[in-house]
Amino acid sequence: MTYAELAARLEVAGQQQVLAFWDELNDQQRTRLSAQLEAIDFELIKQLVQGEDAAPDWAALAAKAQPPRAIRRDSTDNEFSPEEAIARGEQALRAEQLGLILVAGGQGTRLGFDHPKGMFPLGPVSGRTLFQILIERLRAVAKRYGASIPLYLMTSPATHEETVAFLAEHDRFGLGKDDLRIFCQGVMPAVDAQTGKLLLAERDSLALSPDGHGGTLAAFVKEGCMADAQRRNIEHLFYCHIDNPLIQICDPQLIGYHLLASSDMTSQAVKKRAADEKVGNVVTVDGVTQVIEYSDLPPEYGRQTQADGSLKLWAGSIGVHTFRRSFLERAAGQKNSLPFHRAKKAVPYVDADGSEVKPTSPNAIKFERFIFDLLPLAENAIVVEVDASDAFAPVKNADGEPTDSPTTAKAAMVARDAKLLQDAGANIAEGVDVEVSPLWALDAAEAAAKCPTDEITEATYFV
Ligand code: UTP
Repeated sequence: MTYAELAARLEVAGQQQVLAFWDELNDQQRTRLSAQLEAIDFELIKQLVQGEDAAPDWAALAAKAQPPRAIRRDSTDNEFSPEEAIARGEQALRAEQLGLILVAGGQGTRLGFDHPKGMFPLGPVSGRTLFQILIERLRAVAKRYGASIPLYLMTSPATHEETVAFLAEHDRFGLGKDDLRIFCQGVMPAVDAQTGKLLLAERDSLALSPDGHGGTLAAFVKEGCMADAQRRNIEHLFYCHIDNPLIQICDPQLIGYHLLASSDMTSQAVKKRAADEKVGNVVTVDGVTQVIEYSDLPPEYGRQTQADGSLKLWAGSIGVHTFRRSFLERAAGQKNSLPFHRAKKAVPYVDADGSEVKPTSPNAIKFERFIFDLLPLAENAIVVEVDASDAFAPVKNADGEPTDSPTTAKAAMVARDAKLLQDAGANIAEGVDVEVSPLWALDAAEAAAKCPTDEITEATYFV
């Protein structure tokens, strides 16, 4: 696109301010800025700024919200039994019908770590990174079922290069070359909250950020992963986030419920510990399963209880889903199948005079898509409850925060692994940290034959 064409396009969109420093830029800088601008759908930005895609009336939806169709941990009248689910899931794993989508494109702003979150050393004894922790779990599951389970790892421009280099340096933590495909998600520009104008992060660069974990859908198709999954006859994709070390990757039971229920999308959920817990609420409204974010759920609906005193809207989403591949294909083929959510954020920018501004309060709007917004499109969607202590300890905040920090996640890993060892017959001295590599034992049954007979009296990594 020539400068004249670009300028004309920006004028129509009312966004000429991004060319304010054009005359000062060298060729390379001009190429960079033009490439960013050419990738932008200005019509979409205009609609989003003008709020033409009006957000739903959350209060009205919350008023009608019911608990979702679910397999509950303590219920005796679930639709399917755990035994039949495990058998069905194991069968699909052995038949190599599963792939894993692991999303690691987030900027991890709250954690404040200078590298992709997957590179964060979290192993309480081993110091293993999140990448290693999750990839080892995948390898252990694949080994158990004598199957290949390809990993589709999503990065973003913010995390891509470092992730690629890190995994190459560590030989993909043992994953076969053919079993790893790294794909990069798209970006969205931030706009000034008052004016809707695009912001410059630098004179030659827009303020861009990853387009949310919902960006997985478009990127999975665009980057050739869907075609790869098709070629491999992968029928279902297990989806999860990089920031939870306890994820039960490709859990046969979850997969089994998904298959038995003929579900397009099956979500794992935990029983909320508090009415205002900061997790998305999986609910059913007029028969449609969907997530209402904690920030959108009016407290009076969050607090509602059932006859036994437990929370009515109990299901907290943990970002673990299983998708039927054909469902993802259908959703990807549908224009705007995922809405954009807005978030007001403090975004540094270069002002009209060329000075760098670092706002301390939110000045801009970022637009993100969320993967859980696929739920309303799914046929036979079902939720499967898991025990948080077994499956959910996210690393969101920096140490020092009371919840969801590296310290709380490490403690959860130690507690889970100690229980696994104790169930296998081990005797662990009070206050001693233990950590188990899933390649050593995926569960207590596997650990039983290998457990030390002497009391474990010092921090030990079982590997
Ligand atoms: P979060 O929404 O918690 O974001 O991501 P984050 O980047 O980890 O942290 P903050 O909000 O900046 O502090 C949940 C999961 O979704 C991925 C993240 O990498 C994480 O695994 N994600 C998020 C993406 O892959 N892309 C995105 O655009 C956003």
